[in-house]
Amino acid sequence: MRFIELLLGAAAVTSVFAAPTTDVATTSVSKQRRKSKFQFTGVNESGAEFGNKNLPGLLGKDYTWPVKSTIDTLTGKGFNIFRIPIMMERVIPTQMTGTINATYFQGLTDLVTYVTGKGAYAIIDPHNFGRYYDKVITDTAGFKAWWQTVAAHFKDNTKVIFDTNNEYHDMDNTLVAQLNQAAIDGIRAAGATSQYIFVEGNSWSGAWTWVSSGTATGMAALTDPSNKIVYEMHQYLDSDGSGTATACVSSTIGRERLAAATAWLKANKKLGIIGETAGGANAQCISALTDMLSFMQDNSDVWSGWLWWGGGPWWGDYIYGMEPPSGTAYTGVLPSLVPYI
Ligand SMILES: *[C@@H]1O[C@H](CO)[C@@H](O)[C@H](O)[C@H]1NC(C)=O
Ligand SMILES: *[C@@H]1O[C@H](CO)[C@@H](O)[C@H](O)[C@H]1NC(C)=O
Repeated sequence: MRFIELLLGAAAVTSVFAAPTTDVATTSVSKQRRKSKFQFTGVNESGAEFGNKNLPGLLGKDYTWPVKSTIDTLTGKGFNIFRIPIMMERVIPTQMTGTINATYFQGLTDLVTYVTGKGAYAIIDPHNFGRYYDKVITDTAGFKAWWQTVAAHFKDNTKVIFDTNNEYHDMDNTLVAQLNQAAIDGIRAAGATSQYIFVEGNSWSGAWTWVSSGTATGMAALTDPSNKIVYEMHQYLDSDGSGTATACVSSTIGRERLAAATAWLKANKKLGIIGETAGGANAQCISALTDMLSFMQDNSDVWSGWLWWGGGPWWGDYIYGMEPPSGTAYTGVLPSLVPYI
């Protein structure tokens, strides 16, 4: 989500992915409740990336942490993955090769421990758009160091997922691929070898432009000694695909926008996930969303799941709000998505 992100400083994502069934055999309750074929279905839980124009910012004023009771409610609905947007600068201030800010990091580890303690996956999502202090990251070694430092703290938690960065955009495609590879290398060098790594592409990691915009350039060639890369793409269903309108283009726009990316995943034998999607609480969008999720289930050899955008305590009456008990999507869309969780 880009425009909303600028306005509100936060966003939510849901991602799901299909993996070998043996892989999540230990996932307990949330797995057993699944109705869909997806391995992962979830919600973005915003808050800790808010106020990103004010770094480091103050807890409770500029940013907040997602609410644990929301995790309880949503896992009760069957969701098993939560994307936790954070700011790179709040985790490691001043320079990417620096040291962790223990105060902010404690908030992150507390939430990650809570989510994974419930048997769900926690995605650590630096919501930085490929920037550090607003400058495009070109220092791949520094980026690798940031990830190596962070991943070392989670190396023994197999339910943690590392999302290299949220929505790279207006960057060189080759640089984006290099940054993804640097993150993978740093994470594995930290001894975190069991976890999934979600990679994202340029052009806001949009699925609809993954092939046509050249986002795919260099991405199929990423290598991981643990072979646990998942391609995270985002897809909204409004006219400009930005996720800022309540209206959806048509009842089939989702499957249409995923067609080329689906073919790319199949041709390259890769696994994908829709890390962010949403639509307004209206009949057309609900048709478009369920049609897209049905299409993804039909192609669950390459689509592992989806994540809704977004939950979090500070969204108010946001058009896509998934925060219980009264979020717009929580009350108006979620009941229609139950078969796809
Ligand atoms: C989900 O998180 C990503 C990265 O933090 C952000 O860009 C996006 O806007 C979020 N989506 C929602 C719906 O909040
Ligand atoms: C560390 O994080 C806390 C909480 O966000 C913040 O108040 C403090 O200023 C940060 N310190 C540095 C050096 O960024």
